[in-house]
Amino acid sequence: MQRLRRLRHSAAMRDLVAETQVRTGALVYPIFVMDGENIEEEVPSMPGVFRYSVDRLEQIVDEMLDCHIGGTMLFGVPAHKDERGSEAYAENGVVQRAIRYIKTLCAKKGKELLVIADICLCEYTSHGHCGVLSDGDVDNDASLPLHAKAALAAVRAGADMVAPSSMMDGVVAAIREALDANGFVSTPVMGYSAKFASVFYSPFRDAADSAPQTGDRRGYQMDFRNGREALRELAADEEECADILMVKPALAYLDIVHAARAQTNLPLAVYNVSGEYAMFKAAAQRGMLDEKRAVTELLTAFFRAGADIVITYHALDWAHWQREHSA
Ligand code: PBG
Repeated sequence: MQRLRRLRHSAAMRDLVAETQVRTGALVYPIFVMDGENIEEEVPSMPGVFRYSVDRLEQIVDEMLDCHIGGTMLFGVPAHKDERGSEAYAENGVVQRAIRYIKTLCAKKGKELLVIADICLCEYTSHGHCGVLSDGDVDNDASLPLHAKAALAAVRAGADMVAPSSMMDGVVAAIREALDANGFVSTPVMGYSAKFASVFYSPFRDAADSAPQTGDRRGYQMDFRNGREALRELAADEEECADILMVKPALAYLDIVHAARAQTNLPLAVYNVSGEYAMFKAAAQRGMLDEKRAVTELLTAFFRAGADIVITYHALDWAHWQREHSA
């Protein structure tokens, strides 16, 4: 008889043969930075996640440094929006100020926190779409230079990496060219390569105030019925010299993650999005699931499916549990 249970008898034996490990250093924690002062408010649909004004960032930055997570990803919530999303590429836009603040703070403390800037227009446009509109439609090519400008503004402010999330065709190449032309040849680009139009972004849109005013994003984000097309998106970003590829959302898309892993040798990220976080939190708060065990099983599944990097709102919770466990 095949006795597979032989390797499961004790915790020590199970640890010895465990194939997958969640590494805190491979987790990225997203934060929302807001225009204004003295703001630290919880996002109602994302318990435990807050929106901060730049002057209130120090505590969360300390916590991230303390936890030794892989990095943070910044999203901006500007006071002023317009048709062309100009705060996305303003030198003093909220994300640019937040990056400078975090980098100065870390330098003062002699510590390093990797800062990734999400590059998109939806938080900054009055219409809430991820690019500029022409005749009511999102104009791909007219949006590219604005993404390139936003990426440059973030990198000039000190961002270590930029991550375009708008699903515009050619956006990775447009950003790469702009960075190279301005001497930032060493700054990597992480493509949100296969990003699906998903209901699981709903809590994020509350947090970032970025829901489209009319229509939806299905004209540029992917149709969740398509797996092979996701592989084309990943290949296109690789061709455009993306340094890291991403699949988003994560939980309902592990088949794509697995296939992506087989297709590429680039580092692969998954984005465990706001709606996934909200489901786990809601179930835990109502006593329906043990949060720590559920999140551990979830994060492990992302790595087992083939992800190298997991962007998740659970990052700090997980790091704290890890520490208690090893203390
Ligand atoms: C911006 C962007 C979105 C997310 C990341 N970048 C929202 C969207 O596409 O509507 C979603 C992240 C999350 O749900 O946690 N384009």
